[in-house]
Amino acid sequence: MTEMGVRDYFAAMPMLTTARLVLRPGQARDAESLFRCTGDPEVARYVLWTPHRSVAECRSHIRYLNRKARGGEPSSWVIALRDTGRAIGTIGFTSYADETRTAEVGYSIARDQWNRGIATEALSALLSLCFERMKLHRVEALHDVENPASGHVMQHCGMRYEGTLRQKVFNKGQWRDVCLWAMLDTDYRPSASIRR
Ligand SMILES: CC(C)(COP(=O)(O)OP(=O)(O)OC[C@H]1O[C@@H](n2cnc3c(N)ncnc32)[C@H](O)[C@@H]1OP(=O)(O)O)[C@@H](O)C(=O)NCCC(=O)NCCS
Repeated sequence: MTEMGVRDYFAAMPMLTTARLVLRPGQARDAESLFRCTGDPEVARYVLWTPHRSVAECRSHIRYLNRKARGGEPSSWVIALRDTGRAIGTIGFTSYADETRTAEVGYSIARDQWNRGIATEALSALLSLCFERMKLHRVEALHDVENPASGHVMQHCGMRYEGTLRQKVFNKGQWRDVCLWAMLDTDYRPSASIRR
């Protein structure tokens, strides 16, 4: 059997299962529940997207993510609760560079699910995919300096803080400083990927 390349993983978007979550490609019927996340200005505050204005906009975003994935481009999964199937957020790749086997990841969770360890559990599963199966060299993540909760998630998953990038992004009318975190393939430890 031929070995899967990184782009094959983007296209296949394998389903990832954790204790409480399923990370899977979004479906049109997720739009209603996912809109509680993607339509919330508080969730969108420190991320580069603007909140969806309707369930229909969320549905077309899901279609867009799936189109990107089918084309072998970096894209995102829906994070769903295993017990109810409810889509509560997204996680995935925001960029990928072939020459350095480096990906950037990002995630968002609906506000009623914050502080239950959901993002930590989802990111940990994604990092396992990145290093154990996709054989990436480096995975990066960025967060706004005023969004420390996201940095806690990165730290819990074993990523290392590498510095603060001044005015790296222009977000919602303002230049923003962001913190850069990364994990290398040599840092990755399967059993220690969740540190709580
Ligand atoms: C950031 C976000 C993904 C965290 O998701 P989550 O499921 O609540 O994350 P977890 O429960 O796994 O961990 C959150 C950690 O941040 C901490 N935290 C929460 N609010 C905080 C705050 N205002 N200041 C500092 N730490 C905070 C929690 O205590 C927890 O750390 P702990 O386990 O050491 O106590 C979620 O808040 C979110 O979706 N925010 C909006 C979108 C976003 O910012 N995405 C990230 C872009 S880089």
